[in-house]
Amino acid sequence: MQTIERDVVIIGAGPSGLNAARRLTAAGKSVAVLEARDRVGGRTWSDVRDGGWFEIGGQWISPDQTALLDLVAELGKETYSRYRDGDSIYVAADGSTTRFASDLPVSAETNAEIDRIAAILDDYAAQVGASEPWAHPLAEELDKISFIEWLHKQSDDEEAVQNIAMWIAGGMLTKPSYAFSTLQAVLMSASAGSFSNLLDDHFILDKRVVGGMQSVSIAIADELGDDIVFLNNPVHTLEWTDNGPGAAASVTAVGAEVTVRAQHAIVAVPPNLYHRISYNPPLPRMQMVAHQHVSMGLVIKVHATYATPFWREKGLAGTVYDHAGLVQEVYDNTNHGDERGTLVGFISDVKAEAMWGLDEDERKRVILEGIARSLGDEALTPESFYLSDWGNEEWTRGAYATSYDLGGLHRWGALQNQPVGPIYFASSDIAGEGYQHVDGAVRIGTATAERVLGA
Ligand code: FDA
Repeated sequence: MQTIERDVVIIGAGPSGLNAARRLTAAGKSVAVLEARDRVGGRTWSDVRDGGWFEIGGQWISPDQTALLDLVAELGKETYSRYRDGDSIYVAADGSTTRFASDLPVSAETNAEIDRIAAILDDYAAQVGASEPWAHPLAEELDKISFIEWLHKQSDDEEAVQNIAMWIAGGMLTKPSYAFSTLQAVLMSASAGSFSNLLDDHFILDKRVVGGMQSVSIAIADELGDDIVFLNNPVHTLEWTDNGPGAAASVTAVGAEVTVRAQHAIVAVPPNLYHRISYNPPLPRMQMVAHQHVSMGLVIKVHATYATPFWREKGLAGTVYDHAGLVQEVYDNTNHGDERGTLVGFISDVKAEAMWGLDEDERKRVILEGIARSLGDEALTPESFYLSDWGNEEWTRGAYATSYDLGGLHRWGALQNQPVGPIYFASSDIAGEGYQHVDGAVRIGTATAERVLGA
């Protein structure tokens, strides 16, 4: 066991913790980052599986995610666009498939309903905003009603309702649409600029990083060096003192092999894992209560690589929307400069849970059949196949991110960014702009570093 002294100790070497460390060291502070895993990057992870190179975690950047885009450029990295030429495929609730170029191939009435509800959500997103949704006069009302119940109050067009629900439920929060509030859905929309932005895959799934999203974290860790980033060091205890305004505070982070004494700590782990750390003295009552009302969603990210991007030869973009099916969304995820073709698909919440109940061969068969029903039988025989299993990761426990249970956001949201004595919190899951995204992690990393510098 090694004990070291630093100005600031950061717990977690994901994008938020590493970016905070980068900003603090640039400002002349001494820093240590203690990371539980044997790698940096957290929920961003780019690696080889079954012979294919995959983005196991976060990967896409949208044009409004300027904090991340700037960081990528500062680190000398390049981005590339997702392949999206050709038609997309829509699978209706009865399983019938239709090719389309722009508007969803649903009736004119359903398209008009989708536009009408999207406009209401855009209006709420603009009014409520992403930084303090709990403070808006409508917060309580919107937080007491589940998203699906609210949608059913807006429209009796079930196809419109299910399409809208999918973009926030399966597509973003990865929880069933009855399990989170409308305020949470509005926050999700506001954090991306508008609900319409979430609907637009050309916007929200725009760019990828050459070399993988994890390479952003790896580049920061390389810049910081081994004397700052300590891997294989889960922090299990934070001892802290706070003697009031003006008096020196202190904190000791006890990791598996390294203990750090510092003036400030930044807990940069997902909020569902706050309770894995024992705080001495304990956190204030309401923080302890609030932390029990956030949980990770669950999604399986399906990766399949083929000898060629066969769908392109059919004039298809590789994009599939199948809200009633097993694999709700599919996209072309071919790697930069790769001649082989890669598809990525997503299986969310209750459907994901059901998948883990099957044996491995059966799981692979039903998933590939789920993709083949829209893109053709060539999808049944990938060269490489892998399922991202974040629910089985000790230091994450789900995907993509955390959200409050019904009614929790307006009750406890205001506490999530409040420091407790010398302890600050930073995670993409408590960011406003860029919420649940790497961009939010970068933003909150910078903002928290600035708060620590100002303290
Ligand atoms: P993150 O979870 O990344 O890092 C936290 C770190 O803390 C981890 O390294 C963990 O090991 C460590 N830790 C936890 N407990 C600890 C302890 N007690 N002691 C020490 N260390 C501890 N985003 C996006 O912008 N575009 C996208 O396309 C996607 N897609 C996507 C797909 C999938 C499958 C996932 C899982 C996630 C995404 N995301 C995404 C989300 C994105 O990956 C996520 O928002 C950021 O990685 C969050 O960064 P943080 O640093 O906040 O947490």
